Amino acid sequence: VPLKALNTFGFDSIAERFVRLESVDDIHALHASLDENPSPLLLIGGGSNLVLGRQVPGVVAQVAIAGIECEELGGDRVRVTLGAGEEWHSSIESLLRQGIYGLENMALIPGCVGAAPVQNIGAYGVEVKDRIEAVEVYDWQQRRCFWLKNADCEFAYRDSVFKRHYDRYLITRVRFLLSRVAECVVTYKPLRDAIETGLEVSPQAIFDAVCRIRREKLPDPVVLGNAGSFFKNPVVSMSQYETLKAKCPNIVAYAEGDGFKLAAGWMIDQRGWKGFRQEGVGVHEHQALVLVNYGKGDRRQIEALAGMISEDIQVHFGVQLEIEPRFYP
Ligand code: EPU
Repeated sequence: VPLKALNTFGFDSIAERFVRLESVDDIHALHASLDENPSPLLLIGGGSNLVLGRQVPGVVAQVAIAGIECEELGGDRVRVTLGAGEEWHSSIESLLRQGIYGLENMALIPGCVGAAPVQNIGAYGVEVKDRIEAVEVYDWQQRRCFWLKNADCEFAYRDSVFKRHYDRYLITRVRFLLSRVAECVVTYKPLRDAIETGLEVSPQAIFDAVCRIRREKLPDPVVLGNAGSFFKNPVVSMSQYETLKAKCPNIVAYAEGDGFKLAAGWMIDQRGWKGFRQEGVGVHEHQALVLVNYGKGDRRQIEALAGMISEDIQVHFGVQLEIEPRFYP
């Protein structure tokens, strides 16, 4: 089964077997078939955080569980439960139309609802962990579904219990705590700047501004294959940050816990990588943190390019970059 349309890098990968999971019954059926015929399993949603090899052994299962339920909690709070297979961006749009707010800063992130908690997606000042009440999982060990409370998901920057233990859980639904009253988050500098020059402070205006900023900087995977940011923004200690700052006074960083989160895109850009091409892949022209597939690229080429960039950043800034998307197999 070809996976080209199921991974946003657009790699020509082939799955040995492919199934769509539309219900918990489908999951039980898959589990039973794996008992009989044990084989590796890759779960995917929108395939937007994946670097696939050419041959994908075993089963690829796309989680396509649908559903949107809203429950008014009083005091303007709304509990929204979304099926893992719902498309992320259109869910935000539909909630916005119903006057339910809280996810607008994360507009236009590719992928499905069920993938959002895995790497704790975040953008423009909000992380999904800030809005999640609980995550429903199918536990492969206990063979049943249950809810994990936010505190038990071990959320951190681009990390969670789901990312650390890919094989333990399948996310079936996600429950969010949202609001009917606008509580706009405008901590991200480009949003603050836009407000100073006249952007209205409303969820719809933030949604529109985020869509505009993303369209300017980030390639649309339908047009140019990519997996969003290819590297995490590295977190360094206060003293390491101060040493770097003395060497590179313009370095971009944000306080993160006891240390600083460095803008990897800035460092890669400083080193002149933006727009660099090699074989069928390259560094995006408008955002150095994004690697792109010009059509004939594959996993090996992406790995080679990522290796060159990491080494250069290590040599010149003394900082180790960490790859963000998942490699499989
Ligand atoms: N920068 C450059 N050159 C570049 C890229 C960035 O100088 O080529 C500078 C920018 O000018 C800015 C700073 O670096 O001062 C940060 O850039 P940006 O705001 O574009 O965000 P980022 O740190 O590169 C992170 C997330 C994105 C998210 C944006 C906005 C990570 C790994 N990436 O990128 O998330 O959309 O912030 O909040 O944390 C993703 O995870 O796939 C993703 C796209």
